[in-house]
Amino acid sequence: MNRVQQHLGTQYPIVQSPMSWIARSPLASAVSEAGGMGIIESGSGESEQIAAEIVKMRELTDKPFGVNLALLFMRDESMLDNVIEAEVKFVTTSAGSPRKYIDRLKEHDIIVYHAVPTAEFALKAADAGVDGLIVEGAEGGGFKNPEEVALPVLLQMIRDVCDLPMIAAGGIVDGRGMAAAFAAGAEGIQMGTRFVSSVESPVHDNFKNAIINSSETGTIYLNRKGSPGLRALKTEHSLAMAESEESDRAVLFGGGAKDLYFGGDMESSIALSGQGAGMITSIKTVKDIIDDTVSEYFEICADLGARAQARRF
Ligand SMILES: Cc1cc2nc3c(=O)[nH]c(=O)nc-3n(C[C@H](O)[C@H](O)[C@H](O)COP(=O)(O)O)c2cc1C
Repeated sequence: MNRVQQHLGTQYPIVQSPMSWIARSPLASAVSEAGGMGIIESGSGESEQIAAEIVKMRELTDKPFGVNLALLFMRDESMLDNVIEAEVKFVTTSAGSPRKYIDRLKEHDIIVYHAVPTAEFALKAADAGVDGLIVEGAEGGGFKNPEEVALPVLLQMIRDVCDLPMIAAGGIVDGRGMAAAFAAGAEGIQMGTRFVSSVESPVHDNFKNAIINSSETGTIYLNRKGSPGLRALKTEHSLAMAESEESDRAVLFGGGAKDLYFGGDMESSIALSGQGAGMITSIKTVKDIIDDTVSEYFEICADLGARAQARRF
């Protein structure tokens, strides 16, 4: 068992991304039931609903699950209190410094992985005392560092300077991406866009179909000069935002997102998505996504292993 599996306690080292409003119990429990790590989001800032979602998770699955603390959106410590009271064992932190809450989390023996977009932030997170890293390549959907670093570069650079276990995120949708990430030093993967387009995902079919119909150039990087940067599908709305000098702060922070995610109005906000959307061609169940990813990963490893044995390329 590798270090990420030991920390997660799951059958597979496959994590579902935290995604505001989307990463709730229906999707997260399906991921946990299929042997991965389902994650409940907190980026929506809806502290009471998140507490209820954690309770629902326990009703829907007896398998491990985790919670993401989106630090930028934490107005108080209520989300942290929820996690501790519910005896959640695995937490990812993102969008901020983990230093503020790490002591309270570790006091309760919670495993903490922090999301990092550069080697510099990885070193800071290691110094703060986290157990592992979610290494976020710029290919991925959602909040991004203004300085874009592609996942293969980032994994190798972080592995050169730090020995913490790494979960690779950004542009991974299948076993090929998983094998590539492991070759670069990862011991686990996290997928967002792939699970948004799953059968169990709560989003409207318009959003799922937009992912299916997207190409490898179908996303755009928004608010490149500001913070947060975001990767989203190209739509009239996102292209107009990219053109204008002034970014719409309300939209960047999730304004109109529910109308898009659940009402299917693709122009009411921005449809966060990674470049991997280009490789997604069908809506599959969470179980099929995970099973197919694992079998493809092992096929690739077996093939490469056999070639290495025979000193063949
Ligand atoms: C629809 C969507 C919403 C997201 N919302 C959040 C969020 O609320 N908090 C967060 O830390 N990351 C968020 N992310 C980023 C993911 O955590 C993850 O890093 C990313 O999805 C990985 O790349 P991938 O989408 O290519 O798999 C979001 C991503 C997507 C696609």
